[in-house]
Amino acid sequence: MAHDDKPSNTSANRTFEDVLAKYRTRREVMVGGGTLATTAFFAPSLSSADVLGIGGGRPGNGDANAEELVGFRPVPLDRSNDTPEQQNGQEPRISPDYEYEVLIPWGTSIQPGGPEYTGDPTTRPTAEEQANQIGIGHDGMWFFPEPVAVDPRDRFGFLGGTFDDASDNNGWTIAGVAQRGSNTKGMLAINHEFGRNSHVFGKSAPETLEDVRVSQHAHGVSCVAIQNINGTWQRVASPNNRRIHVNTPVTFSGPVANSDLIKTPAGNEPLGTVNNCSNGYTPWGTYLTCEENFNGYFGWTDPDYVPTPEQARYGFDFDGFGYGWEQFDARFDLSVADFKNEENRFGWVVEIDPNDGTQVPVKRTALGRFKHEGVAIAIGVGNRVVAYMGDDQRFDYIYKFVSAGSWRRMRLAGKSPLDEGKLYVARFNDDGTGDWLELTINDPLIQQAGFTSQEEVLTYARIAADALGATKMDRPEWTTVTQGGECFVTLTNNSQRTEADAANPLAPNADGHIIRFKDARRFTGTTFTWEIYVISQETHGTEESFSDPDGIWADPDGRLFIETDGGQKDGLQDQILVSDIGKRTFKRLFEGVNSDEITGLTMTPDRRTLFINTQHPGNGNPEATNFPAPTDGVTIPRDTTIVIRRKDGGIIGS
Ligand code: FEO
Ligand code: CA
Ligand code: CA
Repeated sequence: MAHDDKPSNTSANRTFEDVLAKYRTRREVMVGGGTLATTAFFAPSLSSADVLGIGGGRPGNGDANAEELVGFRPVPLDRSNDTPEQQNGQEPRISPDYEYEVLIPWGTSIQPGGPEYTGDPTTRPTAEEQANQIGIGHDGMWFFPEPVAVDPRDRFGFLGGTFDDASDNNGWTIAGVAQRGSNTKGMLAINHEFGRNSHVFGKSAPETLEDVRVSQHAHGVSCVAIQNINGTWQRVASPNNRRIHVNTPVTFSGPVANSDLIKTPAGNEPLGTVNNCSNGYTPWGTYLTCEENFNGYFGWTDPDYVPTPEQARYGFDFDGFGYGWEQFDARFDLSVADFKNEENRFGWVVEIDPNDGTQVPVKRTALGRFKHEGVAIAIGVGNRVVAYMGDDQRFDYIYKFVSAGSWRRMRLAGKSPLDEGKLYVARFNDDGTGDWLELTINDPLIQQAGFTSQEEVLTYARIAADALGATKMDRPEWTTVTQGGECFVTLTNNSQRTEADAANPLAPNADGHIIRFKDARRFTGTTFTWEIYVISQETHGTEESFSDPDGIWADPDGRLFIETDGGQKDGLQDQILVSDIGKRTFKRLFEGVNSDEITGLTMTPDRRTLFINTQHPGNGNPEATNFPAPTDGVTIPRDTTIVIRRKDGGIIGS
């Protein structure tokens, strides 16, 4: 969601200078390869690519600048060479070495030929139209390339990183999860996190159920076929193109699937997914969408209603975030007894098959219920699937799930690897070590907190994590894993922190930081080592300036792509930067428009096409921007995917 209020609390427990001194000291120790043997992996002189010995054989390395991993000319702070529209933040800026085009803005018909909404300020989509159009609030997404002929031995589409880059089978694997296939055609699965009422249906609050339905249909997920035709990416027809929204049938799987905790007295069937923030993708070819601020869509109409302690811990309020759904749709009214527990059906990771338009989305309850930002999947020891996840709220936690067994064997046995396993929450110790604490009903601390079943532990994972003493973080957003086995997590900001700790060293933390850690036993261990990768404030006043890191993705060569959501400094709009992990440098690739957020990140297998999103450009105000329409002062701005390529056809980020 849009970033927090700016901090008002200046009572820092430690000064920024003190913290920075400690951070720099730790960094120098590691540069020197010194005494912290357990963190030697982080030695900044080695990129992940160096560590793994992947180099010349990788696709694209032949033409990438061997001298410099991130060689492009960045978007400068200086705006004097920009157009007036760029100087005013009405239109984006991009590196002179790159170019962009627009794909599937809000209102695009899900199949060619249907009604489209193109930003006419005098109208909006009807509920029926919106149910068949690309939604709003473009956020996490993933490109699922059309399969091409693969090695016949590779029946799972994954050989652990040995690709023949002379064939069409080019691609990559990061931490064991492969991406290969067509570079010009595939399915794009994309989240539609949120759109404010004024943007979506042109009123601050709904006046009818029809208004609510427009809003509900604008949220959710799209699966849409896209293709590069004669050099231009476009949405194309497919039987698998579909919208999944707040009223789409869904199902539950895993430990909570049959629990009374997700049954309602009304007996209504489970419907919908909402506030789909970031995402993940699995080695078996499915999309994972993450339900984040689901609390904001519920409210209560009975003024005497008192929320339960569980509802309070998950942030429910009488009018939510002001969407007003509860006024016309009793399913979202917490004070209607018939729909007791409806809210427990949200806050999960949901699995979608982008290549089967008839599949019913599955909520995977073993991964716990919280405000799921995103999920980064890695393959650990014994081919267990590991999922790293952030819970984006001030002082909430970082989690990971480890499947019970080999994902391949579980699938061969007809089980989902995401249905059986252990869920952990992270504790960051001040000495640079950390522990994964298992969320299990067998833990006495969890029993003492009043839990009586694993179903309760998973449904109220936040409260179970409280009982274990997990580390309260500065709003964990995206996670990503590197080829070398590290995990990076963005901590976007925390205006309310008054007490610093080593992992969250600023109080308040206005601009956020990025932390990195490495688990013992290749993702599956219960201990880890960690350090701070960057403190945003340290970049201010330089060409590397950024704040409020949110989206993050590591490529297999040692580049880190960072997307921002919040008040940028030095006159900047939200942006995507590319960091050389080995050098800890940051270069601005693209800068968005007024009041937008840059989010979503996926690439073609050859990594020569990048897809990102601008979310809520201008906050829907046509006086701020009309993007993606040319600047005219009246056309309603629309959330859209942006396709980015190097002008010379090179690897993205090079
Ligand atoms: Fe949906 Fe925390 O961003
Ligand atoms: Ca986010
Ligand atoms: Ca954010």
